[in-house]
Amino acid sequence: MDDRPIGVFDSGIGGLTVLKEIMEQLPGEDIVYFGDTARIPYGTRSKETVIKYFFQSVRFLLTKEIKAIVVACNTASALAMEEAQKVFDIPILGVIEPGAKAAVSATKNSVIGVIGTEGTINSQSYQRKIRKMSPSAEIIGIPCPLFVPIVEEGWENTDVAFITAKKYLLELKEHNIDSLVLGCTHYPALRYTINKVLGDKVTMVNPAYETAKAGKIMLKEKKLLSNRLDGGKCDYYVSDDPEKFKRIGGNILRREIASVQKVNIENL
Ligand code: DGL
Repeated sequence: MDDRPIGVFDSGIGGLTVLKEIMEQLPGEDIVYFGDTARIPYGTRSKETVIKYFFQSVRFLLTKEIKAIVVACNTASALAMEEAQKVFDIPILGVIEPGAKAAVSATKNSVIGVIGTEGTINSQSYQRKIRKMSPSAEIIGIPCPLFVPIVEEGWENTDVAFITAKKYLLELKEHNIDSLVLGCTHYPALRYTINKVLGDKVTMVNPAYETAKAGKIMLKEKKLLSNRLDGGKCDYYVSDDPEKFKRIGGNILRREIASVQKVNIENL
């Protein structure tokens, strides 16, 4: 049993969708959340840059005596996690494997859609993991870069979101997908709009939920679960304006974020 906190990393605010699931599924755990808000988006950056930023973030989280790291950011999970696992001596769990696994169990016709940032989709990380588990699966990956700003603007249920989703998701519809991985931290917020475009026959897979579930299993296996069943607290750190994070983050988390500290991680 281990009462040290879990470190949760994201490129910004979207990772709060993963944090929310962890808080629900592991309510006794203390958490340290770091959002690299000064350097978001990661989704359009090169692998080298994402690795550099992610490693700096990991070094920061390690100063907080954490017992494991959950990488909420799909782009960092796709581009930098494997490298990090080679370098850092701490359990690191990303969103790709749990999301891919859930997609394989959800699909009946073996035609799976994956949406995410350009970095995530072009890395083929989801596609590779899914294909490993289900070699005959047809996988259609589509980058949807405009979804992130739409959600950050709070427009996820507007006409703008609907028209954008229709344009991005048309190809998935034509391929007759029956399951769709929401492969970016922000996309679960768009599930109602996506459902309006794709219809009820498409099962949406939320890697945020799946990762929290996988995190619980991982901590249990490694005997790292906390003794507490309730009352875990979360400390928030960001690399840019804490006020904006508090405001938008409170909406995503559906609870007040009382205090957020700004840190400088450039030199770590
Ligand atoms: N957190 C990122 C992800 O899940 C989305 C935002 C970004 O591009 O940094 O891929």
